Amino acid sequence: MNILSFGSMNIDYVYQVPHMVRPGETLDSFGMETFVGGKGLNQSVALSKAGLSVCHAGMVGEDGEILLHALTQNGVDTRFVMQREGKSGHTIIQVDESGQNSILLYGGANRSLTEEEIDEVLSHFSKGDFLILQNELNLLPKLVEKGWEKGLTVVLNPSPLNEVIGQCDLKYVSVLLINEIEGKELSGEEDPEAILDVLLKRYPHLKIVLTLGSLGAEYADASLRLHQDIFPVKTVDTTGAGDTFTGYFIHGLANGVPMEETLRRCAMASALAVSRKGASPSIPYMEEVLRAFEQEKKK
Ligand code: RIB
Repeated sequence: MNILSFGSMNIDYVYQVPHMVRPGETLDSFGMETFVGGKGLNQSVALSKAGLSVCHAGMVGEDGEILLHALTQNGVDTRFVMQREGKSGHTIIQVDESGQNSILLYGGANRSLTEEEIDEVLSHFSKGDFLILQNELNLLPKLVEKGWEKGLTVVLNPSPLNEVIGQCDLKYVSVLLINEIEGKELSGEEDPEAILDVLLKRYPHLKIVLTLGSLGAEYADASLRLHQDIFPVKTVDTTGAGDTFTGYFIHGLANGVPMEETLRRCAMASALAVSRKGASPSIPYMEEVLRAFEQEKKK
């Protein structure tokens, strides 16, 4: 079984701010750092740090060496990362004193894929392989459909949420990882249990993870429902926490780890990620996650 993460790669320009900039306001930042991120890249790094072999596919621009280098450094196979003229994707991220973020995204090269390029990459994968997707690439509905046609296990994190998600047919998706806002939009319901009920009624084959911020996460499929609390930590920067959860979830699924244990690892990995700065650099290795459980036991 192969894992293909087809996704965005962004250069994240991160500013420490006292509060998020208001309309019309000019705000002094306390500091600025550049990190390597993008939901796709973060998820690939999380998959790799959790212990899976992962191929990343996507598009960078002329300034994309830093992104390729970060993937390689983190053990991700970059043979399907393409490069073309123009700028890579980038973001302007504000992180406030409570560690919350606000992200302005410029898609750049991430949004320039052609159907031919997608077909070429997918031709190297076959039935039973995993295809991990988020919504920072163009042609997402095509990618979802083409992945399903090839018999791949399609994993979708419909983030950032926009009109494109409505064009993706969830009957082609096997695993859906959503937050509360995405859950509300997809189901029309507010209550977490109702969100899961509606989505499972429509798509009984789905495995769904619904993350609820400080309230933890819910897992649901046709025969199982589980709740996972968060592990409380001092929040430094929430950027990439959801991507960390996704990577660790797929690791558990692909390795047949019992769902309770998978969710526990996801929660601990995300807790470690929010206690550190940046997106991909904040993602912990599996050894760190398992060590953190040992320390929990001693408390
Ligand atoms: O999920 C976090 C990521 O979202 C950041 O790394 C940023 O690049 C945006 O894509």
